[in-house]
Amino acid sequence: MTDDDAVPAAPLDPSVMRKHYRAEGLAETDLAATPVEQFARWFRQAATEGRLFEPNAMVVSTADAEGRPSSRTVLLKHFDDAGFVFYTNYGSRKAQDLAENPYVSLLFPWYPMARQVIVTGVARRTGKDETAAYFRTRPHGSQLGAWASTQSSALATRAELDASYAELAARYPKGEQVPVPPDWGGFRVAAQAVEFWQGRENRLHDRLRYVARTDGSWRVERLSP
Ligand SMILES: Cc1cc2nc3c(=O)[nH]c(=O)nc-3n(C[C@H](O)[C@H](O)[C@H](O)COP(=O)(O)O)c2cc1C
Repeated sequence: MTDDDAVPAAPLDPSVMRKHYRAEGLAETDLAATPVEQFARWFRQAATEGRLFEPNAMVVSTADAEGRPSSRTVLLKHFDDAGFVFYTNYGSRKAQDLAENPYVSLLFPWYPMARQVIVTGVARRTGKDETAAYFRTRPHGSQLGAWASTQSSALATRAELDASYAELAARYPKGEQVPVPPDWGGFRVAAQAVEFWQGRENRLHDRLRYVARTDGSWRVERLSP
């Protein structure tokens, strides 16, 4: 018998879970000239002061041609003025959605800092050279994993996946170069709007959103919390 069995756990009621945010605010005058610069500042703070586990983890939401949404976590691997880049399987559900409907939302949930950043924009595949350059930086095991998985398709058993990996590991032993799988690569999300959300006291949060103008410059608007 474990301690867990001895004491019945009290029901966990999410309606009474309430944090009081006392974080410093975000003013228009604090903002960087571009959302990518502002993102870089907050990303650095999330990784250093916030000591967040995987601050590059983001929730990617897509919708299919009929508008049915789906979300999942992926890792941000690069960002600059051209966009936010992640890597995945081009046969996956998210990639199929993006082929039908390139509009996408990326959400960075930095809860310990009472912050979130939401990027909305349009996703395009990265070029073959860029994909290959990133693929070569991945650990050998992850390279084989990318080959072994036909992401989002149904598997009969776990053993099927392990057998596929073992076969690949025999074909490409450690030290041998693994080619880039043809159905694997990146998406670059060019931002159309980026919202920076900072939790404040009494639910009077700050929400500042950069919105792209057609000439490539940005205007900033404050949204009601
Ligand atoms: C922390 C974390 C990081 C992840 N990173 C990635 C990633 O970078 N690329 C990816 O394809 N899947 C990643 N996944 C798995 C996805 O959440 C998802 O299961 C997978 O991409 C299939 O999604 P789909 O069937 O909706 O296309 C990650 C999951 C977690 C929890």
